[in-house]
Amino acid sequence: MAARKIAVLAGDGIGPEIMKPTIEILKKVGEKHNEKFEFREALVGGAAIDGVGEALPKETLDICEGSNAILFGAVGGPKWEKLPPEKQPERAALLPLRKHFDLYANLRPAIVFRALADSSSLKKEIIGDGFDLLVVRELTSGIYFGKKESGADWASDEMKYSVSEIERIAKVAFEAAMKRGKKVTSVDKANVLNTMVLWRKTVEKFAKNYPEVELQNLYVDNTAMQLVRNPKQFDVLLCGNMFGDIISDEASMLTGSIGMLPSASINDRGFGMYEPVHGSAPDIAGQNKANPIAQVLSAAMMLRHSFGMEKAAKDIENAVESVLNKGLRTGDIAKKGEKILGTKEMGKAILKELG
Ligand code: IPM
Ligand code: MG
Repeated sequence: MAARKIAVLAGDGIGPEIMKPTIEILKKVGEKHNEKFEFREALVGGAAIDGVGEALPKETLDICEGSNAILFGAVGGPKWEKLPPEKQPERAALLPLRKHFDLYANLRPAIVFRALADSSSLKKEIIGDGFDLLVVRELTSGIYFGKKESGADWASDEMKYSVSEIERIAKVAFEAAMKRGKKVTSVDKANVLNTMVLWRKTVEKFAKNYPEVELQNLYVDNTAMQLVRNPKQFDVLLCGNMFGDIISDEASMLTGSIGMLPSASINDRGFGMYEPVHGSAPDIAGQNKANPIAQVLSAAMMLRHSFGMEKAAKDIENAVESVLNKGLRTGDIAKKGEKILGTKEMGKAILKELG
């Protein structure tokens, strides 16, 4: 069988450290399931600025185009913060990649592993057992991609949504809800913003295609509050680009650590980019301290969503769960007095679970 080509864009900070064990894990799972992967490394972000002078070199884009999926680490860091904003790794690499491949559907599951229920920032009676939330974030439009202007003493970012852009992300949320708890909470600010009046109207109309799914409309400020008051009321949160960015960070903390959360950014062809929700964590980079689990679980999402390898994806997720059940912890999820594993050791422990 032809090898599945994976563009590996490790990027900056902890990116390369968490990517390394992830590749080993993918190799192992590939052997087990009789699948071949071809890993094609390419420069991105600050590493690419340093190496070849731009954050998203053409060669990298070509490698991505010739691959079946992109596995992304993280980009950015203090070293590049003095560059003009549009040249910085986030704006010059990550956002153009999302736009170039039309990766409009961003899936950010926030799941509390039972073994980590104590690590949530919320009390156990509030987070409960088996917390499982999915944030569906629109990723290629809204205020992130509107017209940007600035003058000597002013600046503006345009926020724009079209009906078709809202409908296609709504579809992703409703389809996901059908396979889960059959509830969609659409997050907006329809009391203030025109775009969000359209958002609400469009989602309400679209919801009629899914009579089995309950639709709730909620303002974003209220959502932020409800997420820490009673997070278990939610199943799928459907958000525009910026609200989804904020809400997904908040949701991540309910799970104990942002170091655990994977994400998938997918287009209509099932092509996707898979990356941790967290950033490049320059403060701990190169110290073997980072938690590789978000990157590893992102690889599992890649197997599921781009390659249709559900069993292999589950294998990885189960291996992560067993490691956690055994009490193995990186620093971000360890309680006081617990032994702390490094990035490499955590990677090896997951690998071992895979047999
Ligand atoms: C995310 C990040 C990015 C975003 C940044 C790094 C541009 O926060 O993926 O959530 O805002 O989308
Ligand atoms: Mg973010």
